[in-house]
Amino acid sequence: MASGLGELFSEERSAEIVAASFAGADPRLRQVLGSLVRHLHAFVKEVELTEAEWGFAIDFLTRTGQMSDDVRQEFILLSDVLGISMLVETINHRTGGTSTESTVLGPFHMVESPPRELGDTIALDRKGTPCLVSGRVTGPDGEPLAGAMVDVWQANEDGFYDVQQPGIQPAGNLRGLFRADGDGRFWFRSVVPRHYPIPDDGTVGQLLAATGRHPNRPAHLHFIVTAPGYRPVTTHVFVADSPYLDSDPVFGVKASLIRQVPEVDDADRAAEVGLPNPFRTLTFDIGLSRS
Ligand code: BEZ
Ligand code: FE
Repeated sequence: MASGLGELFSEERSAEIVAASFAGADPRLRQVLGSLVRHLHAFVKEVELTEAEWGFAIDFLTRTGQMSDDVRQEFILLSDVLGISMLVETINHRTGGTSTESTVLGPFHMVESPPRELGDTIALDRKGTPCLVSGRVTGPDGEPLAGAMVDVWQANEDGFYDVQQPGIQPAGNLRGLFRADGDGRFWFRSVVPRHYPIPDDGTVGQLLAATGRHPNRPAHLHFIVTAPGYRPVTTHVFVADSPYLDSDPVFGVKASLIRQVPEVDDADRAAEVGLPNPFRTLTFDIGLSRS
């Protein structure tokens, strides 16, 4: 019987009723919230969520927030291990094969990486297998992007970024901001990246453990490459023989980003680049599309 109250909550029409409550929002907010509510309600109905499970979820999200501060962002890590970060990244940076593919930024980028000269070393802690990293930044027609900025960072041989070990690693260890030369080329000395675990002492670690997943990211070196008039690329290069390439906990691996890191045994070349002989080489050319 019609109550004259308008439509009241019902199990059958729960999503539509709540979505209708957003009628006063601007169109994009109405679309996003409406879709979120429809999917959340469908999920609750599909699994017939129990009150205990709902309570656990609220506690889990509360603890996720409590783990987060200026240097630790457990919610981003949660987004990462659920594949949401990669999905947002991929949707927003479709390349159509015309530029280097992107992947997750991750939580360990420094807004101000230490500026360095081409050829400098970023391995300030002197640990690891010496490696010459080089590449060329080009635009869609192969044009060299002279002066492109190449921002790089990687974990050390012990599996930690410098910001995770203040007072243990030198500040700025394994980071650098390089300006490509007139031909778009960059090169610097480092060490072969190695695999390392994402922080797993919080709620995300509990989720991984409860689902039988490991926390180890395959070996990689991060890049953000920018040039005026071109779309920036945030990406990694992955080491071809690294463990965990097929089980990255944050789903960041793309086949186009994997490279071999061959050994060079050439005393003259080693002396020229300032590395002990033999050393390894990692070559990663980067293509940018026009903005
Ligand atoms: C990283 O590669 O630095 C990273 C990415 C996502 C989560 C944690 C770490
Ligand atoms: Fe990383």
